[in-house]
Amino acid sequence: MQVEFWFNGQRRSLSVIPDVPAQEYLGEIHGRRGTCGDGSCLQCAILLGGRVVTACSLPAYRLDGAEIVDLDGMHGDTLHHDIMRAFDKIGISRCRAALPGLVFLAYQLLSDNPLPGDEDLHEFSRHLTTRCVSREEFERAVRLAGRVHKRKLHEQSR
Ligand code: FES
Repeated sequence: MQVEFWFNGQRRSLSVIPDVPAQEYLGEIHGRRGTCGDGSCLQCAILLGGRVVTACSLPAYRLDGAEIVDLDGMHGDTLHHDIMRAFDKIGISRCRAALPGLVFLAYQLLSDNPLPGDEDLHEFSRHLTTRCVSREEFERAVRLAGRVHKRKLHEQSR
């Protein structure tokens, strides 16, 4: 089948086998491929319509009509910038392979609520399947990014 979608703001058209994982096709576009194939390494994570998904778990037919962003498409986004600063400060940026999934988990959570409560944080951090970072580290970084981002939004609104 033919699918048409937006990838980092650019329109794409591909011929795909509907049930083949989208990673097979997206990997050709952005050159990033995961290694696990089961959604646990977080390496092939993308934002699809603002929600984090792993491309290896996504059937290719779901690309049709989708808006997709990978890490390269996040440059200039202030929330992404604040998350990266917090990840650097807490030391999470060392997790190069899992970084897309970690960033997008934080991004989705903080997009919904810049100051998430403990319950929301625990709900998200339970999706952490990488051993590279502890849940406690991830939650600390998300809290820090959220505080900084909220303060910036507040300053901009004055
Ligand atoms: S290949 Fe590991 S999460 Fe997709």
